[in-house]
Amino acid sequence: MPLDMIIGAQWGDEGKGRVTDMLAAQTDIVARYSGGDNAGHTVTVQGDIFKLHLIPSGIIHPNTTCLIGNGVVLNPAVLLREMAMLTDRGIDVGSARLKISRNTHLITPAHIALDKAKEARRGNDAIGTTLRGIGPAYTDKTSRIGLRAELFANPEELADQIQAHIAEKNEVLTKIYDAEPLDADAVAAEYAQFAQQLREHLVYGSVFLDAALKDGRSVLAEGAQGTFLDLDHGTYPFVTSSAPTSGGVLVGLGVGPRMVGRVIGIAKAFTSRVGSGPFPSELDGELAHRLRGTGDKPWDEYGTTTGRPRRVGWLDLVMLRHAVRINGLTELVLTKLDILSGLDEIRVCNAYQLDGETIDFYPSDIPSLSRCQAVYETHPGWQEDVMGVRELANLPQAAQDYIHFVAKEGGVPVTAVSVGPGRAQVVHL
Ligand code: GDP
Ligand code: IMO
Ligand code: MG
Repeated sequence: MPLDMIIGAQWGDEGKGRVTDMLAAQTDIVARYSGGDNAGHTVTVQGDIFKLHLIPSGIIHPNTTCLIGNGVVLNPAVLLREMAMLTDRGIDVGSARLKISRNTHLITPAHIALDKAKEARRGNDAIGTTLRGIGPAYTDKTSRIGLRAELFANPEELADQIQAHIAEKNEVLTKIYDAEPLDADAVAAEYAQFAQQLREHLVYGSVFLDAALKDGRSVLAEGAQGTFLDLDHGTYPFVTSSAPTSGGVLVGLGVGPRMVGRVIGIAKAFTSRVGSGPFPSELDGELAHRLRGTGDKPWDEYGTTTGRPRRVGWLDLVMLRHAVRINGLTELVLTKLDILSGLDEIRVCNAYQLDGETIDFYPSDIPSLSRCQAVYETHPGWQEDVMGVRELANLPQAAQDYIHFVAKEGGVPVTAVSVGPGRAQVVHL
């Protein structure tokens, strides 16, 4: 069986969680391959809302097995809280269902303290990180001084490494950032507890997936973040510290490219972004309020992880084409079409104006991107509520035309459109 992928095609929060949940019904294994608890994935099942940060969204279907892959940075405290939340809600998160790759890197309180100190030091140039310690944990990984989950199986080594890790970070925190030092003994004791609780979940992730694939089982890779938060291909430096793109799946799970089947991009029918950085099709004023919502509906545009209001704008097809190319998307799922209902007209960015020239690709450097002006095409809107629609033919003609336009100009087939957060609120094309 192949490895299929769910990839964010914008700046995150495209609705990857709900699409993962939808496909998990026919999937044996769902695996997270990058990011950490900076992610916030929302799944709505008959009005029940699950917000997941680390555990793959496949966990809600009783017959899937979930893996936290080696490309993830794992905060064990957050994982245990999430496991407790799911257990309370009757979902089994035992070691038969939830696996952790042994070479997944761990986030510690020192990484979180450093994330906060670094963001504070950046002042007006802050990235607007989620302050979950993501950047510092990946920095340790690439510096080859990170702590890996396999230490849970070796308590003495874990204690030694935590002591050395906190001692080193305390120097940086106190001498460079003038911040409070951490208590190494307390952190070591806390991590010894985590080790006891999580040890039995450890697996050799790549070996586990290889055996499953050879055995004819299906694997779905659940992306976190999105293409434009990718360390290489996003709006650097206003990005996260990992590779949410399809290349990151192979590295982050230890699976080769020949196993890959569908590469499913997820994009909202408009665009949103949390955190700083350029956003050529950004809106403000009345229209932005209209797309964002006021926060009274669970799907309004406020961060799942941080609660921050998201910046919003029109759909950007220049970005979408970049995502199709970088990820090799085989198809696209368009989410939140219902939010566009009631607008008189809908605009779509299909090119940029840069220093007097029209360009149709995404420049990689921030100075150029910041000077890009969106060039729009205007489409008629529709007034009907589409949340109850399940067939393409029952969508208003203007909505059908919008979907076909996105597919044609994006250069990727649209295979499904969601019209509400619920499991059933999907139109398959
Ligand atoms: P993810 O990070 O990509 O999984 O996306 P989030 O869960 O952070 O954000 C997507 C938000 O939109 C969540 O609140 C979802 O419940 C909601 N959502 C997803 N699809 C739809 C849709 O088609 N319509 C509406 N109204 N809400 C949706
Ligand atoms: P999901 O999986 C939206 C953004 C942060 C910030 C930048 C760097 O829910 O789509 P970090 O804490 O990763 O160092 O922050 O990345 N960011 C996200 N934005 N959705 C996410 O995840 C995000 N994860 C990180 O807001 O701009
Ligand atoms: Mg999210």
